[in-house]
Amino acid sequence: MKLGGLHVVVTGAGRDSGRALALAFAQRGAHVFVAARDLAAAARTAELIAEGTPGTAEAFACDLASPDSIRAFAAELARRTNHVDVLVNNGAAYLHGEELGDAEDEAIAATIAGAATGTVLLTKHLLPLLRSSARPDIVNMISACGEAGHRRSQAHPAFYAAKHAQTGLAEILSHRLRADGIRVISLFPPDFVQDGPREQHGPLTAQSVVECVMFAVGQPRDCFIREFRFEQDQPRSARPASTDIDQDTLDDASVG
Ligand SMILES: NC(=O)c1ccc[n+]([C@@H]2O[C@H](COP(=O)([O-])OP(=O)(O)OC[C@H]3O[C@@H](n4cnc5c(N)ncnc54)[C@H](OP(=O)(O)O)[C@@H]3O)[C@@H](O)[C@H]2O)c1
Repeated sequence: MKLGGLHVVVTGAGRDSGRALALAFAQRGAHVFVAARDLAAAARTAELIAEGTPGTAEAFACDLASPDSIRAFAAELARRTNHVDVLVNNGAAYLHGEELGDAEDEAIAATIAGAATGTVLLTKHLLPLLRSSARPDIVNMISACGEAGHRRSQAHPAFYAAKHAQTGLAEILSHRLRADGIRVISLFPPDFVQDGPREQHGPLTAQSVVECVMFAVGQPRDCFIREFRFEQDQPRSARPASTDIDQDTLDDASVG
């Protein structure tokens, strides 16, 4: 897929999946605007891009929980480029705890401020630059916690609330921006690990999630992939009996 020369913004790109996404775009030749709360972490990602990929990068500080920080980042971007082709809304703080009382008020407010308000504000402030692109995409790293009826995570209810807010934003933007040719691509992965064997009963890995993003962004412009939904693995006892049939039984079965 040809992503060379694309201008890509990735938030929360100072570590983990955000860094992996930034590197994956750069590996395909993109110019990445690497944003992270901590400028030094963003700069390290930019260094890794310069050292190990054909792409290029610039590092920025952007705290999604701070409207001032978001506006300053958007203004700085507008000084450096006249368009953004891909905005990856990746940054979001995880909050653990099954009970509302399991987290302090400040942590609850920050979780929602960053993932919910921050994603809305950054998308709002970068929309003019996206509209100036010949092939604009907005990618949202949401979560299975943003799916209606999902109850499997031990995330705090505030994290569920923040991810549902992202889902609502993505749903209406996908519809409203379709006419302008802006694709809104959202991913709803269950818990995943940063590294793993990528096997059938192993946990979902960040690399597989990143490759979904690369696939969707790499599609021709007639192809508006709206969502990636993932089936979670089940405990062995909950799997259909047929999953447990051994190979000898299958080999012995007569084919009619
Ligand atoms: N890992 C999973 O199991 C999983 C599953 C489903 C969905 N997701 C979603 O996928 C995305 C990336 O996941 P991940 O595994 O890389 O998460 P992670 O390891 O928890 O990292 C979260 C990232 O978001 C950044 N961040 C947090 N608050 C921020 C703020 N206020 N402003 C800017 N950046 C902020 C963090 O930066 P700092 O380094 O400054 O903390 C970090 O880069 C997130 O949106 C997450 O909710 C993850």
